[in-house]
Amino acid sequence: MIKYGVLLACVLSVSLGAKTFPENFLFGAAGASYQIEGAWNEDGKGLSIWDVFTHTSGHIKNGDTGDIACDSYHKYKEDVAILKQLGLKVYRFSISWPRILPNGTPTQINQAGINYYKSLIKELKAAGIEPLVTLYHWDLPQHLLLLGGWMNPRLADYFGDYARIVFKNLGDDVKYWITLNEPGSTCTQGYESGTHAPGLNLTGEAVYQCSYVSLLAHAKAYHIYDTEFREKQGGKITLNLACAWYYPITDTDEDVEAFNRCFDFNCGIYAEPIFKGNWPRRMIDRISERSKLEGYSFSRLPEFTDQEKNLINGTADYISLNMYTSRTVWHISDEPIGTPSLDFDLGIGSGVDSSWPTSAASWLVSDPPGIRYLLNHLKNNYDPSEFIITENGWSDLGGLDDQGRISYWKGYLSNILDAIVDDQINVTGYTAWSLLDNFEWAEGYTQRFGMVEVDFSDPNRTRTLKNSAKWYSKIATTRQIDP
Ligand code: NOJ
Repeated sequence: MIKYGVLLACVLSVSLGAKTFPENFLFGAAGASYQIEGAWNEDGKGLSIWDVFTHTSGHIKNGDTGDIACDSYHKYKEDVAILKQLGLKVYRFSISWPRILPNGTPTQINQAGINYYKSLIKELKAAGIEPLVTLYHWDLPQHLLLLGGWMNPRLADYFGDYARIVFKNLGDDVKYWITLNEPGSTCTQGYESGTHAPGLNLTGEAVYQCSYVSLLAHAKAYHIYDTEFREKQGGKITLNLACAWYYPITDTDEDVEAFNRCFDFNCGIYAEPIFKGNWPRRMIDRISERSKLEGYSFSRLPEFTDQEKNLINGTADYISLNMYTSRTVWHISDEPIGTPSLDFDLGIGSGVDSSWPTSAASWLVSDPPGIRYLLNHLKNNYDPSEFIITENGWSDLGGLDDQGRISYWKGYLSNILDAIVDDQINVTGYTAWSLLDNFEWAEGYTQRFGMVEVDFSDPNRTRTLKNSAKWYSKIATTRQIDP
């Protein structure tokens, strides 16, 4: 009887055309060291720029810090047990650079830090969960900031030394690496608006130097992996891209050009160098022209040497894509010359469609088809062999009955499934942001992204599944989106 029931269900789902995620598609969840670990000064960890930034008043809502956060440094076994309970098969986490190298340099290696990540990976493996590891998710060792941080091209060498130590100690058990998480956020929020550590607003200049150094650092780590570890460890490595989707508000040439410019400044700025070896042409032309008018003898966008172009070109084994939101865009007549700024260089107006639901974070709206358009656009422009969606999620103000998150994920996952089945795009995994409610940077603990609630007023940091976790678990185990 049961057999026939199963058969009937299969026949029904085929005849109703229910689409299924491929057998090898990995469903998972994500987090990042500073946002969840806590233990900011334990077991030999050094200071990161986020420790210093959050300990300076006025930077973070309610004066929140990541000092304890979700206490995952002590509670990682519980986190892994939750992943397992939900039937998830991949966990994206990041390594805290100063937990492994307290001042960022290889002069002192903190064995306790290495042991922590070894234990976490062991626990994951034992639960049948694949680790997907980010080397850098914004917690730069403070010592390296004093040496110039992302302004200093030498940072690429420091990053290379750090990456080598991580590959050597943890690489046998890791198949998916990300070098830098969202370099665009580091550079715009850390160096242009100053809302993130290190809190600098050196508009129109530092942001491009930071992007340049980020690409050099990424390429350095990529080649270290490629030449020294890949053969033995057999993993894949890439740079993380954070991209939104954009709609020109009319089909005039000017608005379409505004769309292209917007894509290039936000996504192409990193995608183009790693796939084609240089900045997007539109950026090169616009920034050099505006720099000249401003009286500079050089472009504020650093030029890559031929050697650097060769080094950066082709350094993505897959696309790690963080995608959350969409915008409408339009051309605005050229911005004033005088004050260098990324926004003036970009020169577009942007808004949102009134039909798109807005999350608790004002920058985040729900436009599910956007992810399918974006996947197709990236595929057509860069033709990567594989995509993993490494972040996608919804913020609210808390609560266990998180219907907004469910409908957001349902919409985005349906479009990802359409991209896989109908557009033949090779998306092999999805790590929802986020497993846990966590420290949401300048927003502190006011914004909640987790499928699991964390009680930050409880010293135990008690974790409770939200409805979205139960819903997501069903998707992950049935590989289908419910009707
Ligand atoms: C991007 C970042 O990688 C992550 O750290 C952050 O919490 C989410 N987006 C949500 O803002």
